[in-house]
Amino acid sequence: MSSINIVGAGLAGLSAAIALAEKGVGCTLISLQQSERAQSVLAEGGINAALDTMGENDRISEHFEDTLKGGAFLADPNAVMGLTNGAPEILRWLIGLGVPFNMKGGEVVLRNFGGQKKKRTAYARSSTGKIIMSAVIDEARKYEAKGLIKRFAHHELVSLIANSGSCTGVKIKDTYTDKTACLYGQVILCTGGMNGVFPKMTTGTTQNSGAAAAAAFCQGVVFSNLEMLQYHPTTIGISNKRCLVTEAARGEGGRLFIEKNGKPWYFMEEKYPELKNLMPRDVVAREMYFVRRQNDTGDSVYLDMTGLDDDTWKTKLSDLRAEIISYLAIDPGSEPVPVREGIHYFMGGIDVDELHRTNLKGLYAAGECTSQYHGANRLGGNSMLGALYGGRKAAQTALSERDGAYDDKEPVFSADDDKRLQEASPVFIEKLSEILLGAMGIVRSERGIKKALSALDELSAERGYNRRELDRLALAKAMLLSALERRESRGAHYREDCPETREELRKITAAAYADGSVNISFRAIPERRGSFEDKA
Ligand code: FUM
Repeated sequence: MSSINIVGAGLAGLSAAIALAEKGVGCTLISLQQSERAQSVLAEGGINAALDTMGENDRISEHFEDTLKGGAFLADPNAVMGLTNGAPEILRWLIGLGVPFNMKGGEVVLRNFGGQKKKRTAYARSSTGKIIMSAVIDEARKYEAKGLIKRFAHHELVSLIANSGSCTGVKIKDTYTDKTACLYGQVILCTGGMNGVFPKMTTGTTQNSGAAAAAAFCQGVVFSNLEMLQYHPTTIGISNKRCLVTEAARGEGGRLFIEKNGKPWYFMEEKYPELKNLMPRDVVAREMYFVRRQNDTGDSVYLDMTGLDDDTWKTKLSDLRAEIISYLAIDPGSEPVPVREGIHYFMGGIDVDELHRTNLKGLYAAGECTSQYHGANRLGGNSMLGALYGGRKAAQTALSERDGAYDDKEPVFSADDDKRLQEASPVFIEKLSEILLGAMGIVRSERGIKKALSALDELSAERGYNRRELDRLALAKAMLLSALERRESRGAHYREDCPETREELRKITAAAYADGSVNISFRAIPERRGSFEDKA
């Protein structure tokens, strides 16, 4: 089958598939689960666009500047220019699909979100991801019915078909039968973050296991900024993982405090009088870490939402309230909620340019598996935007670079003894996760990273690993080496042994794998071009 092959059916994958279908171009949509179970449905708080419906004179240029600043100036400015210019159109498209955003007087209501001085985040209560996904899944169905989107649900990526710097297809496995098939044509990876590498600490779905990323890495795909992991400040523990308490809780007035001398101390408000509890996530998470450490309060940072009015609970945060009541048996309307930081997003990932091209010809990537939009820290509300805009952009680029005849023969699935078919064992993942968490926390140091590298070497020296485990070891090494080489503090990467930000390191860490070893280099950030499409 020679078509465009999209791996991953969350928001980025769906967006790419719809963009192709709108042009009458067929694609395959390959995913481990149906879209209804993709990570994107877990997004809560909203999606950013400088719509300026709140009389605040918001501008695209301000969205651009907040995104770059929030990301500690490590993002690709040209990619961010495209993203922020494209945001209002993405919102209009979603409204056209019937997404029921919170509205007033016929206009989308926007809420405050972290790191942004203007109200810019459109939302549907606190289940924005689920509600957007319902509409986008339905839109995709229209093209599935026309045969333009061909789904391979319950299938996973085994490997890229890649040779001499080009990617010409994917090998996939049917997870029900274990049979494999090769699908030829260009490939768009939309495989999400590497949540499964940190099963106990992630707010995300562990079905985004990192297996696809690791396979791509070991097949020569370059990754960048792998040291940049986002800790979301407000999460709660549920059944051995973390559950998000949306930033919208603070956007609507929630306040963080710890008990000090028998009284609540609203530390963010004291230290950051302008944005207060809505500083970018890296700053809030770090402050929480430090106040806990300095005040020896154990786990107890609280989110106080008791001052929120009834209307806010009913119309904006009803789902959050129900979630907290059902998981913790605490009503956040009348009692503060104990919160902790949890791994929420991977700013680093597949290295793509502003057109979403990877270093392999014929291979593109979009969504959380990529790295160009968010730099050293992602702003809340930019993730679904990045997925929708990025998926569309990747599809447009793939289309513009398309060559060869279109041949839509059905793929043939057959039994296979490829060593890549075996899963990484849960025991192995747990060991790997512990090693990485020991070094890749909110506060890092050369000592901690080197200790983790030695532990990783010891783990790697054991015998009998399957291919997927070996791939994961290589990607983990790339993460640790990227963190080691960035001898500064920037965004989510805080090194207590190098607390300063160093202008000479305002560069991208690029990780490449060849001949069994991992190489890290620094690459310049592209010069900014282009202009804003603000209304006059
Ligand atoms: O806190 C949140 O609702 C998360 C939103 C995001 O990560 O974009």
